[in-house]
Amino acid sequence: MTTSQDQPATTDRGSDFASVDDVRERFAAAGYLTDERLATTVFLQTRLDKPVLLEGPAGVGKTQLAQSLAAVTGRKLLRLQCYEGQDETKALYEWDYGKQLLYTQMLREKIGQIVDDTSTIAEAVERIADQDSVFFSERFLAPRPLLEAIASPEPVVLLIDEVDRADEALEAVLLELLAEYQISIPEIGTVVAEHAPYVVLTSNNTRDLSAALKRRCLHLFLDYPDAQRELDIIASKDTGLAESLATRLVEVVRQLRELDLRKAPSISETIDWARTLAVLGVSELSADVLSSTLNVVVKYERDLARALREVPALSDPNAEVPDSGHGHGHGHGEGHGHGHEEPKRPAPAPVPRTPVEDDDDLGGPSGREKRAAKDQPGRHDEAYYGSTSKPGSSSGSRSVSSGQGARSFQGTRKRPV
Ligand SMILES: Nc1ncnc2c1ncn2[C@@H]1O[C@H](COP(=O)(O)OP(=O)(O)OP(=O)(O)O)[C@@H](O)[C@H]1O
Ligand SMILES: [Mg+2]
Repeated sequence: MTTSQDQPATTDRGSDFASVDDVRERFAAAGYLTDERLATTVFLQTRLDKPVLLEGPAGVGKTQLAQSLAAVTGRKLLRLQCYEGQDETKALYEWDYGKQLLYTQMLREKIGQIVDDTSTIAEAVERIADQDSVFFSERFLAPRPLLEAIASPEPVVLLIDEVDRADEALEAVLLELLAEYQISIPEIGTVVAEHAPYVVLTSNNTRDLSAALKRRCLHLFLDYPDAQRELDIIASKDTGLAESLATRLVEVVRQLRELDLRKAPSISETIDWARTLAVLGVSELSADVLSSTLNVVVKYERDLARALREVPALSDPNAEVPDSGHGHGHGHGEGHGHGHEEPKRPAPAPVPRTPVEDDDDLGGPSGREKRAAKDQPGRHDEAYYGSTSKPGSSSGSRSVSSGQGARSFQGTRKRPV
């Protein structure tokens, strides 16, 4: 472990990419297909030594990007999976109390000698306190992923996954690491990275992240891929599905993303669906086939009911579908929505909501309330979020701005017939 007293941070350029194209090619060779924006962000991250913050719906390849970055650069992957209530002892380091206790018991005799000639308790405590630095030293430190990444003698990729699930306090703890690649331990000193790690943070946008955190990162909104890239991803996964069927499947999935589903199908679900259809030996995406396999990609009962009602349109190969970008509705991930242009294809007729459908998501009438309660903005003022709108206002500091969605939504096209 290197502390600031020993030497300053250095950066490691051994694993840098030669160019954006080099990123694309090496990631593709590792089975991860990037687009220009994504490849450029990764290239810049490795050149600027900046962490990257990936935001976007579930299943669009955020976590996989970090895993592929590790595979491609030959770096070890260290992962901090964030969750609500997580404290810094699970993220940074903690003192190994068990080991401290064991040592004090084994050294009982020696400790006895130290306090032997003292006459008062205060004096004895003072003597023991003089030994603090022995017990609060590197020997008794249990590093957790963040400290492990900073202290690693080898360059690593650090994945801080689903950072939006962590509390704001933990987010604040990250700031020093993200800006300086160092961690301060009061008892020991400041641990400085020998090699700047490649840090990838992911967020499903269940709450806003602080402006301070965003400022330290290259930010990328990772959306659903365009049709061609999604098709290429499926092809790269050896699903066993014929190309013509895969093409139709991607169209159907993109139509599903246009519906007002709570959870739109992700790339990983498209892959699952392709595998399912291949296993079933399907030769055509008929209404029957779609109806019997929709549950592979649509995971909520209410969503399934809606999707089933759309099956006649979905199974019609002449239906118009959006061209590129995500084109998804409001229902992906954790209830955040993206603004986007209106697709040419007329929106499906609103489906009347029954009380049962409304409440089925979390198993009862309080389900929607529970989800809405979870989907509240953080408790800080607008400066914290770097937003011009008040958290909780209708423009929704928790929602992904329309600009984000629009960035990758580039219009619509008519499906070639
Ligand atoms: N660009 C891509 N190239 C190849 N495979 C991809 C790509 N994007 C996604 N996938 C596939 O989708 C799967 C899901 O991706 P991943 O788990 O990284 O999603 P995520 O965005 O982290 O989702 P969540 O928010 O639910 O954690 C991956 O295992 C991979 O098979
Ligand atoms: Mg993930």
